[in-house]
Parts: sequence; C-alpha cells; structure tokens
Amino acid sequence: MIYDNATPVARGMVAVMRRAAFLLIAVSLPLSAVPAAAQDPAQIGRALVTEHCSACHAVGRHGASPHRAAPPFRRLGRSYDLDDFPRLLTRGISATHPDMPEVKFDDEAARAVRAYLRTIQE
Ligand code: HEC
Repeated sequence: MIYDNATPVARGMVAVMRRAAFLLIAVSLPLSAVPAAAQDPAQIGRALVTEHCSACHAVGRHGASPHRAAPPFRRLGRSYDLDDFPRLLTRGISATHPDMPEVKFDDEAARAVRAYLRTIQE
C-alpha cells in the first residue's frame, strides 16, 4: 500500500477525501437532472401551490394545514374528480373560498397543479 508509511493524520485525510469524492458523485446525479425536473409539470404545479395555497393548505404528503378549515391537498381526490380540477382552477375558486384571495390559473398552470396533486394523493 502506498499509504503504509503515512501518518495517521495523513491516512485520515485520505479517507476524508475519498468520502468527499463519493459525495460529489452522489450529489451530481440529482443536480444533472435539474433541467428536466424544471420542465416537469408536477414540479411546476408544486411550486404554484406552494406559492399560492400553502399559507392555508397542507400542500405536501404530510402535515396539517396551517388554516384549520382548509383540507390538506393530499386528500382533495376524495371530494373532487381531479380530472375536472383544472376547470375549477381556471374559473377561479374563490366562490368556495370565503377566506381566500382570488387566484386564477391559466390552462397550463392548472394542468401542472393537477399533475402535482396526483403525485401526493393518499
Ligand atoms: C387564505 C387561506 C386559503 C388559501 C390561500 C387557499 N385556501 Fe383553499 N381553502 C381554504 C379554506 C378555509 C377552505 C375550506 C372552506 C370551507 O370548506 O368552508 C378551503 C377549501 C379549498 C377547497 C375545497 C376543498 C373541499 O374538500 O371542499 C379547494 C379545492 C381549495 N381550497 C383549493 C385551494 C387552492 C388550489 C389554493 C391555491 C390557489 C387555495 N385553496 C388557497 C383556505 C385557503
């Protein structure tokens, strides 16, 4: 072994560097996938509901809604046909929403939200 004569400190450093190299490989894989993920409708939908809805609704797979009356999005599939959900979003949902500021989605955004909602339904 090349490292036989190395001091314990030097050996330790080699071990750390190997681990660092492994970590670089491990993180570079997801990073290289970022451009594709940015085009993924579900990712866009997640960003949209995080921005516009998460003040009141739980928008992820876990957790309670910040607004007690607002149903977690992972359960919307129980009361709504998600196929029709984009129509609801593009019409604006303030009618069912006494506390909510009016938000209207265009068709593409509404479909992105639906794509995301499908990924989190219980
Ligand atoms: C200011 C708080 C608030 C925000 C922001 C908000 N909601 Fe709501 N939402 C509520 C509340 C409260 C209810 C429950 C209303 C009720 O049942 O009386 C609700 C209900 C709903 C329902 C009906 C659920 C059901 O089972 O009947 C849908 C769908 C919904 N919200 C979608 C959204 C979407 C999509 C957004 C983001 C664009 C959003 N909400 C943002 C407070 C909010």
